[in-house]
Amino acid sequence: MTQKRVLSGIQPTSDSFHLGNYLGALKQWVELQDGNDAFYCIVDLHALTGEIEPALFRKRTLASAAQLIALGISPERSTLFVQSHVAEHNQLGWIMECLAGFGEASRMTQFKDKSAKGGADSARVGLFTYPMLQAADILLYQAHYVPVGEDQRQHIELTRDLATRFNTRFGQTFRLPEGHILKAGAKIYDLQDPTSKMSKSSGSVAGVLEIMDTPEANTKKIKSAATDAGREVKFDEKEKPGISNLLTIHSALSGRSISELENEFEGKGYGDFKGAVAEVVVEYLRPIRERALELLEDENHLIELLHTGADKARVVASQTLSHTYKNLGLVK
Ligand code: TYM
Repeated sequence: MTQKRVLSGIQPTSDSFHLGNYLGALKQWVELQDGNDAFYCIVDLHALTGEIEPALFRKRTLASAAQLIALGISPERSTLFVQSHVAEHNQLGWIMECLAGFGEASRMTQFKDKSAKGGADSARVGLFTYPMLQAADILLYQAHYVPVGEDQRQHIELTRDLATRFNTRFGQTFRLPEGHILKAGAKIYDLQDPTSKMSKSSGSVAGVLEIMDTPEANTKKIKSAATDAGREVKFDEKEKPGISNLLTIHSALSGRSISELENEFEGKGYGDFKGAVAEVVVEYLRPIRERALELLEDENHLIELLHTGADKARVVASQTLSHTYKNLGLVK
């Protein structure tokens, strides 16, 4: 059986990944590294589209690597690397920018949302061209599957459109990737505002469960999560978005079905249920946090692992780039 290529990326934009990142994407990253040829990338260049502070940025990139390894990404069984270490990402990114239309780039919802927040005039050009760099990340590795959360669906569609356009005009060059998006967990919501997604850039930290938070902090956040009307623990995204979100989280981490959980908490109140969710989350995250802190004690070792990953990634990326240049008629 030939192995399938998998590629995904995550931005190092905060001290900790949150549970939405984990349940929407990273849990699948771990599962897909077995039996596939997986490439996982810390997309530091994408993070430059927002505000950064250099010392903190460096720290967050390393903390991202530590967390990925702690939650099960193996640097031996997969290729784990930092985007800026493989220059081919920028090089193919430019080609993708020259292929994409201004109109289609303007329709990307992530750009529209983020630029609306700060005002369109202050939005960076990099935020606009961000999806074309993401397309390059994916196409360089000829990925079959891209494990991501629901919010990335549109970027993957764009990537497929760009690949098709290139292949049609310049000859077969890129594989058309497919998003690998789960049904449950693809969108985890903010605990305080269960109608918006859990997000690093959300205003309140109280609604975001962070992998690197202390057990006490996460317990407090879950116990003070916004609750819905009524007192029944039932999955109903419309009427009970808060409880449904907590049920999704519990089920994804405990491996128990939603209906099993509904039965267990029948006749009990929200308080008991939240206590149980807190216990599941805290016990799940405890060893991950401890391992990440341990890994961060030896920065040089982490950097070495990332360099080894970049060396492996470059072999594949440079092949795709030279094929692309050749098909475009660039003189070698
Ligand atoms: P980023 O860094 O914002 O998020 C990383 C991954 O976490 C998922 N995610 C969620 N899933 C469920 N519920 C949530 N509340 C939630 N919040 C975030 C995201 O869908 C994502 O899979 N553009 C990408 C990074 C990127 C990339 C790539 C991804 C750059 N190049 C190539 C795949 C392939 C992003 O901003 O993810």
